[in-house]
Amino acid sequence: MSTFKKNFLWGGALAANQVEGAWNEAGKGLSVADVAFFKPNLDVSDYAGHNKITTPMIEEAVKTQDATYYPKRRGIDFYHRYPEDIKLFAEMGFKTLRISIAWTRLFPKGIEEEANPEGVAFYRNLFKELKANHIEPIVTLSHYEMPLYLSRTYNGWVDRRLIELFVRYAKVCFKEFGQYVRYWLTFNEIDSVGRHPFTTAGIIPDQCIDYTLDEAIYQALHHQYLAAALVTKLCHEMIPNSQVGCMLTKLTTYPNTCNPQDVLLALERNLDNYAPADIQIFGEYPALYKTFLANKGIHLQITEEDEAILKAGTADFLAFSYYMSRTESADPNKEKAAGNTIMSVKNPYLASTDWGWQIDPVGLRISLVELYDRYHVPLIIVENGMGAHDQLGDDGCVHDDYRIDYLRAHIAEMKKAVEMGVDLFGYTSWAPIDLISVSTSQMSKRYGYIYVDQDDLGKGSLKRYKKDSFYWYQKVIASNGEDLD
Ligand code: BG6
Repeated sequence: MSTFKKNFLWGGALAANQVEGAWNEAGKGLSVADVAFFKPNLDVSDYAGHNKITTPMIEEAVKTQDATYYPKRRGIDFYHRYPEDIKLFAEMGFKTLRISIAWTRLFPKGIEEEANPEGVAFYRNLFKELKANHIEPIVTLSHYEMPLYLSRTYNGWVDRRLIELFVRYAKVCFKEFGQYVRYWLTFNEIDSVGRHPFTTAGIIPDQCIDYTLDEAIYQALHHQYLAAALVTKLCHEMIPNSQVGCMLTKLTTYPNTCNPQDVLLALERNLDNYAPADIQIFGEYPALYKTFLANKGIHLQITEEDEAILKAGTADFLAFSYYMSRTESADPNKEKAAGNTIMSVKNPYLASTDWGWQIDPVGLRISLVELYDRYHVPLIIVENGMGAHDQLGDDGCVHDDYRIDYLRAHIAEMKKAVEMGVDLFGYTSWAPIDLISVSTSQMSKRYGYIYVDQDDLGKGSLKRYKKDSFYWYQKVIASNGEDLD
């Protein structure tokens, strides 16, 4: 008998802005992702790059039609090739595919009264294709691609008017796609507003004029929590049996030593990481978090009505991404390691990926146990994977045993967590097919089971090739996670 549930959702996860391309087709508006640029010879530890966006940089980007240095405009052409890609996912045996809807395909500026019919038609056809291939969609409403217009006009989610506009967008999604989609996620890695406020919340730092960037971040987050709660309730009303999850970047933090100062720092980081899930699952701000904000001099505008909204729209399940753990030390001189838009202390017990992210499968088990013990709601891992420099051989194959090792070790730990009693209902690895990296806009940071022939500057045939991991994952799914060899 398998450890995993009979209907365990095995699959992969994608985001519209990293795969679709077709950035200016069929009435799509510009999104914040369309102005994210690729910088050759990038310092991979420069994760602050996201925060450096300025108004002149955005103005320059909107003037050009270039898709070479703005790679999210081209993606991997999923917009035109999705039938072929979905067939490959089905061949691997996918039970589910996590995708996101681009807000700008439905509402190009975000302010329109009616949705763009061509955008609606695109996603309807995509869902039909998934259905025909017996793949259940998990859909993220907002994955790093809000309308650029809202960013430039309102400084993004800092403005409360965004809530109503987002609800309007979500309502169209539920009405048009509700018959195909049961599982919904509100905001991808909502906690990342603090790490890259432009990508996640459309905040342009130089536009923070009557308020600080910090105030902007927490106010924007508050508005996203409210929007998430409102659309969760709406989804339950509009789609019978729907399940709505919140989503977190799980950044489990270890103290570097048992020095109480290190332990305290790790505790603070972990509490900070939990806060967005606390708010969306318990339906209120934790007392300690409110004090933490007040001590930072942040005084949010939270009304009694807001509190009622949070309570009435709590999430049904918790989805999270997990790539690595992080380590904290009170000693500022400790050697550092890169991670998913963070830097932390290098953990000597762990190996690293080509991009310096420290590989920690046991950390996944720790994360699962901690999250389930804290929230008591079903969990799903919606991102986990390894970015690597893959080489396409003359045999038309990529021999990515390093990726298989990474995934095997993580799935084995996930299994142990389930054996400990964690309620886990799915696993969608990031990403089933090579795509544009969110943090570096590189194509050469590859995650897929399927290789895409395209380089960082967009050259290549876009032809798809199966990697060794393709066949390995096929076996994993066929055995419901029992055969990891
Ligand atoms: C997650 C994001 O944080 O990390 C994805 O939700 C992203 O969109 C993934 O692609 C991997 O990060 P990167 O920077 O390697 O693309």
